[in-house]
Amino acid sequence: MAHFDENAKPFSHKWMNERLAVDTLKRVLSTEYWIPKNINFLWAMGMVLAATFGVLLISGIFLLMYYQPNVNLAFDSVNYTIMSEVGYGWLWRHIHGVGASIVFLIIYIHMFTGIYYGSYKRGRELIWLSGMLLFVLFSAEAFSGYMLPWGQMSYWAGMVITNLFSGGGLHADFLVEWIRGDYVPGQAFLNRFFMLHVLLVPLAIIGVIVLHFGTLRIPHVNNQDGEEFDFEEAAEQYKAGNVKESKVIPFNPVFLSKDVFVMGIYFILFFYLVFYHFEFAMDPVNFDPADPLKTPAHIYPEWYFLWSYEILRPFSTNVGLIAFAIAQVIFFTLPFLDRSPNVAPASRRGLFKYWFWALLIDMIVLTFMGKLPPEGAWSTIGLIAALTFMALWIALPIITAKEKKL
Ligand code: HEM
Repeated sequence: MAHFDENAKPFSHKWMNERLAVDTLKRVLSTEYWIPKNINFLWAMGMVLAATFGVLLISGIFLLMYYQPNVNLAFDSVNYTIMSEVGYGWLWRHIHGVGASIVFLIIYIHMFTGIYYGSYKRGRELIWLSGMLLFVLFSAEAFSGYMLPWGQMSYWAGMVITNLFSGGGLHADFLVEWIRGDYVPGQAFLNRFFMLHVLLVPLAIIGVIVLHFGTLRIPHVNNQDGEEFDFEEAAEQYKAGNVKESKVIPFNPVFLSKDVFVMGIYFILFFYLVFYHFEFAMDPVNFDPADPLKTPAHIYPEWYFLWSYEILRPFSTNVGLIAFAIAQVIFFTLPFLDRSPNVAPASRRGLFKYWFWALLIDMIVLTFMGKLPPEGAWSTIGLIAALTFMALWIALPIITAKEKKL
């Protein structure tokens, strides 16, 4: 039995420390969690993501108070009740819609920062894998949320995406029906996507964010030069007062204050979009209620899924499905396909520099082509971009194996 001071005032610092080791927790999680000095604003994106997730959670809770998960009521509960009858309902919906879109922009920036600086290898593999798990979970969260207003795009995107599970030529229609709980998207479908969106997926996201933070604790974050140094030694130097010479700063309060500064700028932009450009996060077609008898002329997903959608589209059903499935998981393999021993910015890594920029530009091209109708030149460009995506991943182990040690 540990020692407890009978005279300590309930909930005083001493009382709490004896029961919850608050001092140790604070040290381990914040004041003695060491961050390298040699990093830039891109390293604030992780905390920006955490904050955006918090905003999505809070705005989602408010929306949940009036949303009706019923195929006859869902559309009106969002577009009339929340948007015009409930005080400030529109504000919570704007915040939630903008947050859901912008969170993907930040996720992509965060991912590509990791790729650029090689922050996914030499002890950081689990940070990358848990990050990718978060990417998949956020995708599931966004897709399930998109079903909820039960507009035309909700219905038809739900139809197209669940159809993929028939496996093309395999005709596994039983699987599609099992997922939908019906022959077509209907009440059972809406109910289960509602459950996924408000309970199961957010719970999983919270768990994996904790895991992601846990995986950062031992390898620590990378830095702009990929420099490897002894964190313990640098921390001792800092604690001894040699703040200038030390290569690290404590997460709290030093690095956190920088994070908060970046977040401040981010939230100015965020609320500018919420108040003045909310429509960018909304598809106009989804302002029509779901109509199973009227297929929209073009069915396309939200912008953040367009690149992978465009990898599916130019091919015949079976090849397209395989290409699509590969695109969904290929980023998980990055730490193992990159065979170079170097952890360094892409600019110093020979052919990898070209690989990085080619991948980024290719995904931007795929995104634009995914939005355009698959006709004429657009479909040719889409096909070339999809083939380039595959070729880049095949080339990665070959070019990185040849990389000279820096
Ligand atoms: C969506 C929720 C996510 C949250 C809340 C989150 C949070 C964080 C935080 C706070 C950091 C440390 C500071 C920083 O480097 O920004 C970090 C680092 C990192 N994250 Fe994430 N992250 C998320 C998603 C992802 C995704 C999708 C990936 C990529 C697959 C990823 C990969 C990484 C990597 C590789 C690092 C280490 C960076 C380094 O060592 O320099 N994270 N994340």
